[in-house]
Amino acid sequence: MRHLFEQGTNPQDPVLLLLHGTGGTERDLLPVARRIAPASSVLSVRGNVLENGMPRFFRRLAEGVFDEEDLVFRTGELHEFLDQAAAEYGFDRKSLIAVGYSNGANIAGSLLFHYPKALSGAILHHPMVPRRGVQLPDLSGVPCFIGAGSNDPICSPQETEELEALLSGAGAPVTVHWERFGHQLTSSEVEAAAAWYRANFA
Ligand code: MLT
Repeated sequence: MRHLFEQGTNPQDPVLLLLHGTGGTERDLLPVARRIAPASSVLSVRGNVLENGMPRFFRRLAEGVFDEEDLVFRTGELHEFLDQAAAEYGFDRKSLIAVGYSNGANIAGSLLFHYPKALSGAILHHPMVPRRGVQLPDLSGVPCFIGAGSNDPICSPQETEELEALLSGAGAPVTVHWERFGHQLTSSEVEAAAAWYRANFA
């Protein structure tokens, strides 16, 4: 997968896995990563699917309606890529913390839903429920931060609460941070994610 890797100044720190939103690139979340964990290495991936020229991590049939088969396939593809990247760049595969926005948060959520040891934590900015009716793996010890908008037209507050319940039900300690700026990723939401990161991982 197209990606970039930046070695951090502290190789002991968790590695941040950056996953952009629809139409983004692997460069989009670099400033966010630096605010969350300035000394961490960063692995940032570009989605393999194109929707009218816009990179995404999996296909959708309409806004908010996922192509479930493609979601499952792309989640497996990303999971395999992470194993390869850990070997290639020499980082601890168990130390990955996802930072995803929108479509990127949805594929991060899908990694959590499908693979028990894919991530050691996740910062999900404006995520949806990636899939329904599946048994989640044990996520105890995998802290998750959800940044949500009480007026987000894409991820409703009900869907945020549903995701929180599913992750908590699988044992994950979940923190939800609410804002009122629709689907936007704001500076104050990034600050809240950074504070959560410091409390859980620094
Ligand atoms: C998705 O397809 O993952 C969601 O609709 C969010 C987005 O617009 O990318």
